[in-house]
Amino acid sequence: MVHADASTFAAGVSKAEAYQQVIEQATALFDGQRNWVCNTANTASLLWHAFHSLQSPSNRVNWAGFYVLDKTVANQLILGPFHGKVACQTIAFGRGVCGTAAVSGESQLVPDVDHFPGHIACDGDSKSEIVVPMIKGGKVVAIIDIDCAVADGFDEEDRQYLQQLAELLAESCDWK
Ligand code: SME
Repeated sequence: MVHADASTFAAGVSKAEAYQQVIEQATALFDGQRNWVCNTANTASLLWHAFHSLQSPSNRVNWAGFYVLDKTVANQLILGPFHGKVACQTIAFGRGVCGTAAVSGESQLVPDVDHFPGHIACDGDSKSEIVVPMIKGGKVVAIIDIDCAVADGFDEEDRQYLQQLAELLAESCDWK
């Protein structure tokens, strides 16, 4: 199989099946590769193509990517690989949905970003958002961030599979 085929999702698959394919393909791609840039970049591609193979609201995802710990400034996240429009470069711990997930170590499922105090609007198109932290050795090393252009874009199924993906990434990469 050529590498690009990993991003091909059959039409009509369920959300669970799409996530299972993401996790399966990610596991295969991470075999023999522990570089975090390489692995999060490929995962952003897998997520983007998975969401866009699904029905609404999932196919309205307008941003899918990562923020990682900024090595140069304490308690700050910095933009990592993603698909979507240009985004905020840095986010302080405690700020926005991403900073809240980084501080609490808990995933944030936001059905309507207008009702999340302090939400950072990198892209005015984003109406709902899910952020899942990656934890290694008890510390947050990065977060997965997905935005959707409609409200209620995500549910508990997304949270469950993204948490599984976050655990896989946390263990499969060297976060240096
Ligand atoms: N909305 C996020 C900022 C990052 S962008 O969505 C890519 C937040 O409130 O943390």
